[in-house]
Amino acid sequence: MTGRDDSKEEKITDLARRLAESRETVIFTGAGISTESGIADFRSPGGIWDRFDPNELSYPSFVSNPVSRRNYWQFYREYWKEARDVEPNRAHFALAKLEDLGNLSAIVTQNIDGLHQKAGNSPEKIFELHGNMWEVRCLSCNDIYTWNDIFQLLEEGKEVHSCRQCGGLLKPATVSFGQSLPERALREAQRLSERCDLFLCIGSSLVVYPAAYLPEQAKNSGAKLVILNREPTPLDGIADLVISGEAGDVMSQVVKAVETRSF
Ligand code: APR
Repeated sequence: MTGRDDSKEEKITDLARRLAESRETVIFTGAGISTESGIADFRSPGGIWDRFDPNELSYPSFVSNPVSRRNYWQFYREYWKEARDVEPNRAHFALAKLEDLGNLSAIVTQNIDGLHQKAGNSPEKIFELHGNMWEVRCLSCNDIYTWNDIFQLLEEGKEVHSCRQCGGLLKPATVSFGQSLPERALREAQRLSERCDLFLCIGSSLVVYPAAYLPEQAKNSGAKLVILNREPTPLDGIADLVISGEAGDVMSQVVKAVETRSF
């Protein structure tokens, strides 16, 4: 099956078979897997980068400019408000079920919302390339604060204080443009991409690097590459199977087919 002209149903069956037969499956997720839960993605119309300027929220601006830092904290005040009561959706639960069925080795996610953990996937199998928004850390000594402590300060209109241990700058434990990715998560993600035999991308535009190198790395290392996304991506041309559709809708059908071995 080429994965190019088949019907969506045939593609869903094809993906179910690939997941059931795969020795080692890595699932790579982006913001598109969380939109059904109510969290906006970044590059769809009305997405986060339509409302905020990514350059204003970059790491160099944050560390060098108090006004940018203040804007950054206002961004997070809104983002925490938008995301704090959000629940996992069908796509997240499908990945948790795949792990229960023994058909998922790891999740490599660009998402910072923690919904994979909330849906029940094992934290040790989740690699967060862009960090996690529910922690605030000191950039100098790595001291950890809970997001809610900082959120309350922002809600009271107060400035975010400096680190109580060393006086350094506090920042959510997420990766901003111009900031390096967490070394361990990236190293593990690269190792998993090189050794897996199935690499499934769900809900990512695949335009942000180094994360978007991973599907290419997996493909170059011999894995089959599957892309599930609402819109085309730049890597569709090297994929073995491309499914255009909604993550929740498709993945709930795929996992049902894996569970009932209907493929
Ligand atoms: N089902 C399938 N695809 C979806 C859905 C859905 N329900 N909702 C959105 N999408 C698709 C969009 O069409 C888009 O192509 O998901 C993709 C999300 O792309 P982005 O918004 O670019 O998000 P992502 O790929 O995760 O961005 C990577 O960029 O700004 C940085 O740090 C940020 O981690 C983020 C990184």
